[in-house]
Amino acid sequence: MQLMLLTLPTGTTVRLRPIEPEDKRLLSLGLKTLSPETAMRRFLTLKTSFSASELRYLTEVDQVDHIALVAVDALLGSLIGVARCVRVSPDTAELAVVIGDPWQRMGLGRRLIDELAERAAAHGIERFSGTMLATNRGAVRLMRGFGTHVERDLIADGVREIVVQLPLSTRVLTPMH
Ligand SMILES: CC(C)(COP(=O)(O)OP(=O)(O)OC[C@H]1O[C@@H](n2cnc3c(N)ncnc32)[C@H](O)[C@@H]1OP(=O)(O)O)[C@@H](O)C(=O)NCCC(=O)NCCS
Repeated sequence: MQLMLLTLPTGTTVRLRPIEPEDKRLLSLGLKTLSPETAMRRFLTLKTSFSASELRYLTEVDQVDHIALVAVDALLGSLIGVARCVRVSPDTAELAVVIGDPWQRMGLGRRLIDELAERAAAHGIERFSGTMLATNRGAVRLMRGFGTHVERDLIADGVREIVVQLPLSTRVLTPMH
């Protein structure tokens, strides 16, 4: 398993790694530390706990059609963030990301989706789609600033859907003949 370490401006050392089936408790505890606003922005509902089947879905992933990474406090072992993408068509994956409130706006969300994009591209994903509250400026900025090209950006009923092409640098290019 690959491990990546990075240091936040606060001095916190963060370990990025693929999610594992053993992370169910980590996820459950992490959800309880989120502010209601952050949980609402991530799940588009007032989520306070996961069912057993939700935890299985969220942690028992194949890292091909469902790729998920966690950011963990390297010292304390507690959850700082999660990013995942789930393939919804052969070349498109639905993106979801959450960073715990104390660590937002430190570049971690961007770092996690960059890493996710590299892994997704290696499995044939060419675009990410994201669904967010239309008022969620952070998520909109994260999505729109990420891809090489915004293919779709629609707002309906207070929800915004953005589809971006993955940066060319992460995509597996087919040689020209
Ligand atoms: C959205 C979220 C994942 C961003 O992660 P983050 O680590 O805070 O973001 P980063 O520090 O990597 O910043 C990424 C960009 O978003 C911008 N941004 C982040 N939070 C912002 C906010 N609250 N308002 C405006 N811009 C914001 C940053 O300025 C940065 O922009 P830039 O690349 O143009 O400089 C995080 O705020 C979060 O977990 N929010 C709640 C859950 C959520 O909204 N998930 C997305 C829908 S699934």
